[in-house]
Amino acid sequence: MILVTGGAGFIGGNFVLDWIEELGEPVVNLDALTYAGNLETLASLAGDKRHIFERGDICDRALVDRLLATHRPRAIVHFAAESHVDRSIHGPAEFIRTNVQGTFTLLEAARAYWNSLEGEAKAAFRFHHVSTDEVYGSLGPDDAPFTETHAYEPNSPYSASKAASDHLVRAWYHTYGLPVVTTNCSNNYGPYHFPEKLIPLMIVNALAGKPLPIYGDGQNVRDWLYVKDHCSAIRTVLARGRLGETYNIGGWNEKPNIEIVRTVCALLDELRPSPEGSYSRLITYVKDRPGHDRRYAIDARKVERELGWRPAETFESGIRKTIAWYLANPEWVANVQSGSYREWVSTNYGERDTTGERA
Ligand code: NAD
Ligand code: DAU
Repeated sequence: MILVTGGAGFIGGNFVLDWIEELGEPVVNLDALTYAGNLETLASLAGDKRHIFERGDICDRALVDRLLATHRPRAIVHFAAESHVDRSIHGPAEFIRTNVQGTFTLLEAARAYWNSLEGEAKAAFRFHHVSTDEVYGSLGPDDAPFTETHAYEPNSPYSASKAASDHLVRAWYHTYGLPVVTTNCSNNYGPYHFPEKLIPLMIVNALAGKPLPIYGDGQNVRDWLYVKDHCSAIRTVLARGRLGETYNIGGWNEKPNIEIVRTVCALLDELRPSPEGSYSRLITYVKDRPGHDRRYAIDARKVERELGWRPAETFESGIRKTIAWYLANPEWVANVQSGSYREWVSTNYGERDTTGERA
């Protein structure tokens, strides 16, 4: 089995569903259930013995040690993080705690566990660190896309905390020989995406008739990858990536934000037309994000050349699937918006031991 951290979040949740569907291998899922953790994403696994959920903090060394000793995973796939740039601007402390201290705690626990293994089990063990393209900073309009050797130039508290975690992972490989791989991925989108991020926020606001806030001039560029493609990239790198290497993962889909929002509006106009006219009437330009990175672009040729991975979805196919998913799952959206998924957490976990096993 494998241990996943942050498996109740957007990418981690999609990864757990994808992993069990594609490989059928059991997963221990360690997640603190912060505001970003949502067990409703994993509702289809209720009662499935291949999914063991543990509510807990990656900074809790004793808990991580206990999970490793009990379940003896062959790999750790580390997603758990504070992930939202805007939140990191308003409150950076939690980003340092989870992303830096938490990754350090996991690395130390993994090192002790790996040192206790022998033979085949020791040789096969992997620590897969899931990171971001934001560690490389911002590109100018004519700059070449980020390669794996691009300098680290993080600009937000979030990206600085992720850069720090990448450096720790690298050091644990070079100093202690811990068998690590790191992936640096571009912007994901798809089902179960929390509506604080651009694409799901635009979908849910449009359906509610609320303004669609565009930061600055709307010309900031991101590369977009359908989340299931990120899951397949992680499976590929975990299985065949070279130890100590980093792999950039991207969708070959660079687009300015305003184009993304116009595409979302056009698809909603087609699939759920509003009697009040096109959703694009709701587009509203607002004050820019401080330190807003202008452009990210990923050169994903290394993972293709070495491991044969390429994304399966184009942006056109992926965004259509995403909007169809949001339209077909109003209950998930309503529970996220009303906060009732959090009430469920406090009802279920408020007075309980936080280290118990739950499916
Ligand atoms: P998310 O915010 O949706 O989910 C994070 C999950 O981690 C939540 O379930 C939360 O409860 C959990 N968590 C937070 N702090 C924890 C702690 N101290 N202990 C245990 N669990 C904790 O994030 P996401 O968008 O799914 O991103 C997952 C990972 O992928 C992150 O490491 C992020 O940096 C990276 N990443 C994200 C993107 C993207 O576009 N979203 C792109 C590239 C890389
Ligand atoms: O590049 C990978 C990163 O992508 C991940 O590491 C992060 O975890 C993830 O949150 C994401 O970061 P971004 O800051 O790029 O994502 P976000 O969805 O917050 O914003 C995308 C772009 O849209 C960015 O240029 C800011 C802009 N934006 C965002 C919001 C929420 C708006 O214009 N309006 C908005 O309301």
